[in-house]
Amino acid sequence: MSNVSLNEKIPNNVDLSSDKRLQRALEQWQPEFISWWKDMGPEGFQEKDIYLRTAVSVDPKGWAHFDYVRMPEYRWGIFLADPVPGRTVGFGDHYGEPAWQEVPGEYRNSLRRLIVTQGDTEPASVEQQRRLGHTCPSLYDLRNLFQVNVEEGRHLWAMVYLLHSYFGRDGREEAEALLQRRSGDADKPRILGAFNEPCTDWLSFFMFTTFTDRDGKYQLLALAESGFDPLSRTCRFMLTEEAHHMFVGETGVSRIIQRAAELVREGKDPRDHGAIDLPTIQRYLNFWYTVSLDLFGSEVSTNAANFFGAGLKGRAKEEQYEDHVALDATYELDVYEGDRLVRRPIPLRSAMNEVLRDAYVADCEKVITRWNKHVADLGFAFALPSRRFHRAQGQFAGRYFTPDGTEIDAATFEARKDEWLPSEKDKAYVRSLMANPVYTPGHFANWIAPPARGINDKPIDFEYVRYNEA
Ligand SMILES: [Fe+2]
Ligand SMILES: [Fe+2]
Repeated sequence: MSNVSLNEKIPNNVDLSSDKRLQRALEQWQPEFISWWKDMGPEGFQEKDIYLRTAVSVDPKGWAHFDYVRMPEYRWGIFLADPVPGRTVGFGDHYGEPAWQEVPGEYRNSLRRLIVTQGDTEPASVEQQRRLGHTCPSLYDLRNLFQVNVEEGRHLWAMVYLLHSYFGRDGREEAEALLQRRSGDADKPRILGAFNEPCTDWLSFFMFTTFTDRDGKYQLLALAESGFDPLSRTCRFMLTEEAHHMFVGETGVSRIIQRAAELVREGKDPRDHGAIDLPTIQRYLNFWYTVSLDLFGSEVSTNAANFFGAGLKGRAKEEQYEDHVALDATYELDVYEGDRLVRRPIPLRSAMNEVLRDAYVADCEKVITRWNKHVADLGFAFALPSRRFHRAQGQFAGRYFTPDGTEIDAATFEARKDEWLPSEKDKAYVRSLMANPVYTPGHFANWIAPPARGINDKPIDFEYVRYNEA
């Protein structure tokens, strides 16, 4: 196992102190990060003690340490999964060659772009979620929000480490820019669409962590296959943290569904009793799932083909495929010819975005199946909308579809969109439920069921955030 240095300014397992130049550069970036965190991180809770886990190693059995910490004092560290001895490039034109420990010159720009695009999502989500603490349904949930936030901060560190270590001056400039863009800002927005959408209520937060963090999982799985070994090792460790983010999302929505189902079973309308009705939950699902589908990019993509050919970005769990070169294979895809959708074989490398999206959709289906167990007796079932619905990227962008995938005209969509996506009324209602935050240990807002268990074997009424102390 690699050596862990926890007592340095920047905790790490990359032997940072042996490279003074790099260490100095990162130590200069650190105060800029903290100042960004204080400006754009969780608003109003920076001085509170939060029961958080901190990564202290990459040992699968014990990498996290739990304790109270104030967020600006969180020990954001640089942790790469242990190297795999003799690792080779697992796909593309360089299949079978030794994995790269340095950036190959010809792929420098592509790699930097991949790392910056991934890196940009990390601070973006913290910015999107920064005011949610004021409307939280419980201290348990508040702590989970902050856990996700500090780990997204650590993911930013992970990408900035790669930029500083391997991309020289350009890398340092990109690291600065990552702290300058702002989610939703008209002049300097974050790079990807979903990361500029407001996330100002807890139903959105739980949908975001279910669907958008799950996009993150698939991007990380694809980058974990990279022939550039430091990127692969970085992403492999990030995946272990990502799992908790999706847990927060899935169980959060699940508890909202349970509360609604309980009321429906009693013959009550959840909206008359301060909870969220099932059709509204479905509309939020439709929104966050589809903006997350967009993050995979166009169905047919030269970039995706180039990234795969170069060995930079593979498929999720590349080892499950037989043909790792994918030069002669094709992928059957519905593509527009004029106004008609026609099934056509596409060169597989050009369809890699769609291949990754397929894996993502299959994973989302499993989540829906689990959610539906709570409503099976009520004659209601949640469903993922068609991947044509409400798209802003790829061939379905600029066209209009119903959630079941039937093409309609713009006027019909406009007239019916409030049936399918959260309306202004829905949003106002959901926000109204959350006007009064719940800061008493063991208490929960009326619109959400308590969790099945606490965090790290603590009881549900544990004081996850020391809210009431000065
Ligand atoms: Fe992340
Ligand atoms: Fe995440």
